[in-house]
Amino acid sequence: MDRNSRIFVAGHRGLVGSAIVRQLAETGYTDLVLRDRSQLDLTDQAAVRAFFDREEIAYVIIAAAKVGGILANERCGADFIRDNLLIQTNVIDAAWRAGVKKLLFLGSSCLYPKHAEQPIKEEALLSGPMEPSNKPYAVAKIAGITMCQAYRKQYGFNAICAMPSNLYGPGDHFEPETSHALPGMIRRFHDAKMAGDPTVTLWGTGTPRREFLYVDDMADACLHLMERYDGEDIVNVGPGEDIAIGDLAGMIRETVGYPGTLGHDLDKPDGHPRKLMDVSRLFATGWRPKIGLPEGLQRTYEWFLKNAAPPAPAQPAPAQPISHAAE
Ligand SMILES: NC(=O)c1ccc[n+]([C@@H]2O[C@H](COP(=O)([O-])OP(=O)(O)OC[C@H]3O[C@@H](n4cnc5c(N)ncnc54)[C@H](OP(=O)(O)O)[C@@H]3O)[C@@H](O)[C@H]2O)c1
Repeated sequence: MDRNSRIFVAGHRGLVGSAIVRQLAETGYTDLVLRDRSQLDLTDQAAVRAFFDREEIAYVIIAAAKVGGILANERCGADFIRDNLLIQTNVIDAAWRAGVKKLLFLGSSCLYPKHAEQPIKEEALLSGPMEPSNKPYAVAKIAGITMCQAYRKQYGFNAICAMPSNLYGPGDHFEPETSHALPGMIRRFHDAKMAGDPTVTLWGTGTPRREFLYVDDMADACLHLMERYDGEDIVNVGPGEDIAIGDLAGMIRETVGYPGTLGHDLDKPDGHPRKLMDVSRLFATGWRPKIGLPEGLQRTYEWFLKNAAPPAPAQPAPAQPISHAAE
């Protein structure tokens, strides 16, 4: 990509898409094509084809998807499989037809089999049964990856796929019903602080380990791959290290300045003991994350306070324990 390349970032208002736009702009890319859902509904095939026919896009990053936490996935599986299949099929196919030079598609660490060997290597994809709670989402995303690989093989289309770990940062979703684990914790501690709750309760023992990448690092990795990687193989994108959920909760408590205690609901399941991706393929290309958890959490909480915190005095959600089981 040269700095004048015309680049379409699909989903530019989302957590990942907005970070990619920030990163592209900071790096000096000037010709960004951005459309929100009201201007271009990516589930509408005719509209997507017309858009690509018209816009002469050179590069595409697909950060548009239907994304959500455990509750949303369990309640709205039909929406997750339909919307994701439509969005990615429409964009990948129209981009290839319009002669786009290169496309980046995003999978997720949660597509790997439930009991994949740790740390999870890229080869583990489709090697065992998947986590049932997000199966519709995972099946759709794996179809997107397979589509990129098939278009590369049959049509020579330079479509690459990255597998991000859990992400967090400015632009995240903090609503108790739909958020992922980390922003859900920030919201829970914040609400408890505002309401003067004496305890925030965590599901299980807090010993399971998970990985979290700051979204600006994710955006940096996306650009790195767009500029330097042209392979068929998927590439894990993560921090390369994990943290016990109890320790993460302690860090968030400190970041938020919550004075109460952290309780554990030991009747609740712990979930998988560890979920960490092997990032040696990405690290071998010279990429490393730059922002550690303490700084990332601080920046995220500041963004939350300015943009997403409920008006004080907040009423906490009725004593909802924090769950991380499916992430
Ligand atoms: N967040 C994570 O922890 C995480 C982890 C691993 C992988 N990923 C991957 O990263 C990608 C981006 O995720 P994210 O967390 O940034 O999600 P997000 O914050 O929910 O953003 C998704 C974006 O897609 C747009 N979109 C959804 N449906 C659309 C449609 N029909 N037409 C046009 N735009 C549509 C949304 O627009 P609206 O604002 O209008 O809804 C939003 O801007 C996804 O592929 C996801 O699988 C995310």
